[in-house]
Amino acid sequence: MYITGIIKQVSPAIRSFTRSASYFITTPIFYVNSSPHIGHVHTLFLADALNIYMRLKLGTDDTIFSTGTDEHGIKIQTAAEVSGMQCSEFCDLNSAKFSRLFKKYNTTVTDFIRTSEERHVRSVQSIWNKLIEAGFVYKSTYSGWYCTSDEVFVPESQVATKVIDGLTIHVDGNDNKVVWSSEDNYMFRLSELEDRVFEWLNKKRPILPRKFNDELINQMEKARIGDISISRPKSRLEWGIEVPGDSSQTIYVWLDALTNYLTVAGYPCNDQLLRRWPIDCQVLGKDIIKFHAIYWPAFLMALSLPLPTKLVCHSHWLVDNLKMSKSRGNVIDPWQENKLLTQEGLRYYMLRASTTHSDTDYNRTQALRRVNAELADTYGNLLSRSCASAINPEQKIPINILNSNQPAGIGELIDRLDKLGQSCAEYFERADFYKGVDEIMSVLRLNNRLYEDSKPWKLIKEVKKDEQARVTYHNLQAVTFETLRICSILLQPITPMISKIALNHLEVTERLWQDARVKLSFDGTREAHRVVSNLTSPVLFRRIKD
Ligand code: MSP
Repeated sequence: MYITGIIKQVSPAIRSFTRSASYFITTPIFYVNSSPHIGHVHTLFLADALNIYMRLKLGTDDTIFSTGTDEHGIKIQTAAEVSGMQCSEFCDLNSAKFSRLFKKYNTTVTDFIRTSEERHVRSVQSIWNKLIEAGFVYKSTYSGWYCTSDEVFVPESQVATKVIDGLTIHVDGNDNKVVWSSEDNYMFRLSELEDRVFEWLNKKRPILPRKFNDELINQMEKARIGDISISRPKSRLEWGIEVPGDSSQTIYVWLDALTNYLTVAGYPCNDQLLRRWPIDCQVLGKDIIKFHAIYWPAFLMALSLPLPTKLVCHSHWLVDNLKMSKSRGNVIDPWQENKLLTQEGLRYYMLRASTTHSDTDYNRTQALRRVNAELADTYGNLLSRSCASAINPEQKIPINILNSNQPAGIGELIDRLDKLGQSCAEYFERADFYKGVDEIMSVLRLNNRLYEDSKPWKLIKEVKKDEQARVTYHNLQAVTFETLRICSILLQPITPMISKIALNHLEVTERLWQDARVKLSFDGTREAHRVVSNLTSPVLFRRIKD
């Protein structure tokens, strides 16, 4: 074993960075060994919803939202071999599957990065050199169990044997096959930084939901990870980025992959010139917490760069209560679901039905029911009824409430509307989208009930001769359009396309988060309104036949 440098004192890195963007959010980059499935799409939707929410909150579109594909490593190399293709050709083909699918969803992604790109190779090699300079790398002979599926060495304590078709194999805790390797590697001195990583997790609690932060702390208390291998012999791993100055070694795929976030920020460059740093929010699945919450912060500490502010971790989508996997053959294809539910319907269902803290079973019948009941009926019908020429012949949107308690229930609705923006903000910030949508739908349902009970189709025929009917009708329409305006603003992160249709239709130009408060005036005795030309019944979401 020899040491390639002396560890430099790592300062806590409190520096001012040049910022050209107001917010920086990332998704993990996706392995290209297989086609995208709905689990991948879910990660994208979550991050997109958070990005849209932050844009509305900050009042700017100047954010960085990165995603992309992870293209190196044994897993990809083997998949390319099996398909009889060159690695680069195989990656081009499969990366395009992700970018083509992601484009279909009209997300706010600003950067799609591929680890095979030249700019990324430069970035990884530059980081390698910095880690060497800082004294965090040494060469050693490493022996251990390697799991290709997760691209990681697995501790002996987690390895078990299993007999399949009469053959004894070794597997890790998730039943993934592991193989014994003994090889020359470059090692990273994670052990030197583990205490600081632990302290960061303990003090800052950056992982949401909290349970994942606590679990990781518990794991670290029980067993430390120690130094990790950050290269593989080229004879084993050919498809990867070469170690600078040692053509016999290839850089470990997780060091390569995690660096994508720095490449997006503009690395290699002077730290002060990064587009924005640190990253404000990293979205990731629970299966890759260790890499993002231990390895990644340790790499950043070694580079004297500040750590991400928040890690939003999500659980998994299951099919018939089993994890989706290619080998099980239970993978759900997003293209097929787009066809059935529409893109916006799929996005709504996934954000509406899943929680970050626990796994969710993908249920097509439930998805259909949800989008029909909530997007078509609850939301869509309220809009189309209040705009229908039979109910609203003069295409008017009232902007005040006349001094009256009519119709009964209006006060409760206004109270709920007034608090809605604040409670949704609290939920959305934590990526608890299902809770926010639940409240929005409950307000829309309350308004629908008020509408039913007040019978505006009858009131409209009496407004000219009956004062009470005139006031009730006016107030009912006023609060209904206010509900539609506020709910449409708040639903932008969840159903951006539908919300846009509704807001355009109602000619609402102020659509930021701060605009989602009640703006009706309450002191008038005379009707005030705005007239919207073309306020005929729009269709927000067409019911899907089962
Ligand atoms: N390439 C690594 C990440 C490197 S980031 C520096 C990787 N790729 S992955 O394609 O396997 O997974 C990408 C993301 O998809 C992860 O956040 C993962 O949790 C998520 N999902 C994969 N299967 C999933 C479900 N069944 N359900 C929800 N999300 C899941 O890991």
